[in-house]
Amino acid sequence: MARRKLVYEGKAKILYEGTEPGTLIQYFKDDATAFNAEKKAVIEGKGVLNNRLSEYFMVGLQAIGVPTHFIKRINMREQLIRQVEIIPLEVIVRNYAAGTMAKRLGMEEGTALPRPIVEFSYKDDSLGDPLVPEEYIAAFGWATQQEMDDIVSLALRVNDFMSGVMYGVGIKLIDFKIEVGRVWDNEYPRLILADEISPDSCRLWDIETGRKLDKDVFRRDLGDLADAYTEVAKRLGVLPTNVTHNPTKPTLIN
Ligand code: CDP
Repeated sequence: MARRKLVYEGKAKILYEGTEPGTLIQYFKDDATAFNAEKKAVIEGKGVLNNRLSEYFMVGLQAIGVPTHFIKRINMREQLIRQVEIIPLEVIVRNYAAGTMAKRLGMEEGTALPRPIVEFSYKDDSLGDPLVPEEYIAAFGWATQQEMDDIVSLALRVNDFMSGVMYGVGIKLIDFKIEVGRVWDNEYPRLILADEISPDSCRLWDIETGRKLDKDVFRRDLGDLADAYTEVAKRLGVLPTNVTHNPTKPTLIN
């Protein structure tokens, strides 16, 4: 294959120039990082699993009318996506207290919240993605007030979909992070879901046992991360056939 132009390399993914203008190829690496890349490892098969899982969620979201950047999966590790102007925010939706929220408010992890809570962090690794109020976002011009309202609506739709899909396979969606991008239709900006949705960016707990099936397994040394992601993929019926890791009775999904 001809060498492709690298557009951006992040911690878990690489973006290459796409096949047509306005598209990019998103490559999922096996690299796992936590605590702002202080902890690093290569988890064989993680990229393949996340490529499949993100495809599965994005296709499902599109089917219920949520616009996403996903165009098609190209191969085991790559998908074609629409190029967007990334809004520099990490949009976090929480259904149960966990992680930084539990710490900040002294809450026990797993405590149900009165309603889903959407919060914004400024996307900047060197600052550790600090939590920011809407006032900052508007003042610094990262997004308009209208865009923030649209982002909250989008995030809550993603939450309803993801919570339902996960509940159907015995998993509780504790929280997750999404990123949103701007696309231009003629002169009008429109927001679409970008980046990925995978166990790297969600907290997923088994409803029966409380077993963690997400990146906390890596962050907190709770076992084998690929096993946990494989379990999620298996339950959803999206296990790729030739993942070398623990491939017990794989199901072929085209
Ligand atoms: O994960 P951590 O405790 O640092 O932060 P959090 O604010 O409690 O994270 C909430 C959710 O967003 C978790 O599911 C994280 O995995 C996800 N997240 C992410 O994917 N990327 C970030 N930079 C921050 C949070």
